Amino acid sequence: MDSTLSDLVEQARVALAESGDATSLANAKARFLGRDGSLTARMKALGSLSGEQKAAAGRELNVAKQAIEALVSAREARIARAQLEARLAQESVDVTLPGRGMGAGGLHPITLTIARIEAIFHSIGFDVADGPEIEEDFYNFTALNTPENHPARSMHDTFYVEGGLLLRTHTSPVQVRYARMHPPPIRVIAPGKTYRVDSDATHSPMFHQFEGLWIDEDISFADLKSVYSDFLRRFFESDSLDVRFRPSYFPFTEPSAEIDIRFPDGPLAGRWLEVSGSGQVHPNVVRNFGLDPERWVGFAFGSGIERLAMLRYGIGDLRLFYDNDLRFLQQFNR
Ligand code: DAH
Repeated sequence: MDSTLSDLVEQARVALAESGDATSLANAKARFLGRDGSLTARMKALGSLSGEQKAAAGRELNVAKQAIEALVSAREARIARAQLEARLAQESVDVTLPGRGMGAGGLHPITLTIARIEAIFHSIGFDVADGPEIEEDFYNFTALNTPENHPARSMHDTFYVEGGLLLRTHTSPVQVRYARMHPPPIRVIAPGKTYRVDSDATHSPMFHQFEGLWIDEDISFADLKSVYSDFLRRFFESDSLDVRFRPSYFPFTEPSAEIDIRFPDGPLAGRWLEVSGSGQVHPNVVRNFGLDPERWVGFAFGSGIERLAMLRYGIGDLRLFYDNDLRFLQQFNR
């Protein structure tokens, strides 16, 4: 082969070896075999040669052309294989990797707190009851010795709804509903949602309370003190918790007391913290139960569940309970 021709084949080999993808390969191919390619130009030049020379040069050009075409297809195959391998590597699945797993759900801290309260009262013989959140004025106020225009009604900022109904402002109406349906002795707690027009770091328009009621023939304020103090010490798992009954006023109890606690240690140590209202059930309320207040006596209490949960878990802002931030909620998944 004439040396300029073998140089051309060598140039083609180098150019093709440098082409890394289909586009640069096509460009390299065109440089030699395309319409304006250098080998094509030599082919065109054959026309000016005489018969004998033309045949010999034509053969050589054909050999060179086949050599370049072979280099092109080898390169093509190589690029296609590399692309396939890259794709396979990218799409590959390592079946030996551990699975992602499913996150286990958990109970909301308020739900956990309610379960804890129920378990403690259950263990001393209390039933658990519930009642409607959309309530009649009668059960929420009147039957609880709070008739219309009674000043104590302004203690609650009430959400009124259609039809003369309201969103219960406390769980106390469940006392009346339950006592009217169950003959004494009555021992019940009633946890649930309550509503008031109020919203800040320590008040939410919806919050939870649990009501307690014990009615029998000889239940006294001393029983209230021992039952509730015992509940608190078990709830907070602290025998040295201080409990104080501070005189107060509720229309449905007489006498009435607010219940405060004081932790012996921890960040809140030494401060009295209110956790519940309570008292001896007012004779008018016992009458509204459909019972004779000369015979049936007892105590009631109503406590804020968020408050107890915040104190137990050390939570400073009530709104955390309702933001549904998983970073907060997942801390209770155990
Ligand atoms: N219902 C009262 C409130 O929401 C709490 C309460 C106080 C409930 C005394 C009672 C009770 O049963 O006896 O503020």
